[in-house]
Amino acid sequence: MSPYSRRVILAGLAFVLILSAAPLRTFSAPVSAQGHQIAAQTGPAPWWQHAVFYEIYPRSFQDTNGDGVGDLNGITERLGYLESLGVNAMWLTPIYPSPQVDFGYDISNYEAIDPLYGTMADLDRLLAEAKARHIRVLMDMVLNHTSDQHPWFIESRSSRSNPKRDWYVWNNGVPADAPVVTAFQKKYEHDGRVPPNNWESLFGGSAWQWDSQTAQWYYHMFYPQQPDLNWRNPQVRQAMYNVCRFWLSKGVAGFRLDAIETLFEDPQLRDEKLLGGVNAFGDPRESDSRQNDLPEMHEVLRQLRQVVDSYPGDRVLVGEAYTRNTQDLLSMYGLHGRQLQLPMDTQVGFINKLDVSEFRRKIFDAENLLDGHVPLFVFDNHDNPRSWNRYGDGKHDEAIAKILATILLTTRSAALMYYGEEIGMVTTPPKTRAEVQDPLGKLGWPKDKGRDGERTPMQWDSTRNAGFSTAERTWLPVPPSFRTVNVESEEHSPDSLLNWYKTLIALRRHNSALDSGENIMVDSKDPNVLSYLRKNPAGGPSVLVAMNFTAKPRSVSYHLKAQGIQSATAKTLLENGGVGKSVELRRVALPPFAVLVAEVQ
Ligand code: NOJ
Repeated sequence: MSPYSRRVILAGLAFVLILSAAPLRTFSAPVSAQGHQIAAQTGPAPWWQHAVFYEIYPRSFQDTNGDGVGDLNGITERLGYLESLGVNAMWLTPIYPSPQVDFGYDISNYEAIDPLYGTMADLDRLLAEAKARHIRVLMDMVLNHTSDQHPWFIESRSSRSNPKRDWYVWNNGVPADAPVVTAFQKKYEHDGRVPPNNWESLFGGSAWQWDSQTAQWYYHMFYPQQPDLNWRNPQVRQAMYNVCRFWLSKGVAGFRLDAIETLFEDPQLRDEKLLGGVNAFGDPRESDSRQNDLPEMHEVLRQLRQVVDSYPGDRVLVGEAYTRNTQDLLSMYGLHGRQLQLPMDTQVGFINKLDVSEFRRKIFDAENLLDGHVPLFVFDNHDNPRSWNRYGDGKHDEAIAKILATILLTTRSAALMYYGEEIGMVTTPPKTRAEVQDPLGKLGWPKDKGRDGERTPMQWDSTRNAGFSTAERTWLPVPPSFRTVNVESEEHSPDSLLNWYKTLIALRRHNSALDSGENIMVDSKDPNVLSYLRKNPAGGPSVLVAMNFTAKPRSVSYHLKAQGIQSATAKTLLENGGVGKSVELRRVALPPFAVLVAEVQ
């Protein structure tokens, strides 16, 4: 289990506790978003509101120079594919110069391109060609930390009196024999002193790294090679805002903000609470409330928003957020929506089991408890095992993947996909420790095999290396599934997962109910079938979505008069499993794991 899963699980537990103390909500009545404070909006909806975002892990998308690692020219080469899929924007994980300890999330220069991926001219060409196809490009912005090879850190660590010393978080530690010092801290003793508290890195071990040159510890939420910047220092803020301006001036559509909840730490350095037991790294399990989600973050989000808003074209801030609950998620949008436009809603995508009532409740919450803001749903990314494996039962995996795609693309959310999700790529973890690339997998082996499994090369066709590269060896092996699971074969198969995604994306683009209609839960006591209505905002046909979450045939009777639906039949827009072209709303028969998306009037 990766630390990401750990965080999602902790968040989930907290949410369950909060809910068990709260009065039960029912979903039987049509629920209106009215009465909520809808974010003020004038003029046409900005492009990102119901957009489909596609995450590209550049190392693994397409290699054009035969070194076994994907590159920018590879992405440009595959733009036609992205256009045919119908996505509105792509987010590129970091492509800046980096020692690649954390595969780019350790940046040593924020205003250049790592030669591994190409040149600035290659990026300019990608931006221009993507624009010609109406696909926007978002950069990944890593604000919490730099690489330890970044000139700022090299200066900072050079002496205690260096002007950049305070750009990072340095500390003297405490005497090893102080009464409050724990056994965990003692493991890190140097010259009779230990780290100032029990804080742990998300990537294992103490979050404090001893620096012998100046005999102090520095703080790192992630690897020791990723020292945290000191966001209480105004010079740090200005420097990072200038980095953002550099990329905005180049024409990027915005940023995905990495690890944004970890910008600040408790200034009093108070210990984290112990939760009992040990984690995958063998360290004590701890809460993270002193290192994560501190209120100071919101001021930075407001300032960042001002930076992006000072450029034309509705630039957007997407936030990596593993919030504990919907209330915390709401706080990321900020008062009057002055912070992030799209913090990721990992509440829905990481339920990790096909539980109708959980999905119903979380989709309901996203629709009704976010003050009218648009949620950004996501099931997959480069840090977690693929949804195919998290939700699949080993027998009906493709049908289940179609259910997840349907939720992602028919709810009133913006949607974030991850390359390969649309063809059903499976998590393929390394078989031996020696094969592991992600340091997290080396540290956590065998309990935590790291994140290589979800980062394997894109499977384009059934030729050598799945059409990803001509290299002898690719940076991660191509999973054996590529012979049957690949873009080319799925493009030719009408019932493929890829065509399911394409159809849903096209439907969503052209159907105003699916684009922006209110999301109303219907048949809301059913424990087996998840159903909702997307109400047409302009009075035209609405869309009913129904999904059988079980391996048994189910029958549903819809009563939609209260929702203004007069007709007794529905016209199918998309279905699988043989639901049929037209259905009687009073008796809809749904085969195992079947999906129905149908127009109702
Ligand atoms: C979140 C990124 O998604 C992950 O890949 C990275 O390791 C950490 N942040 C640290 O930057």
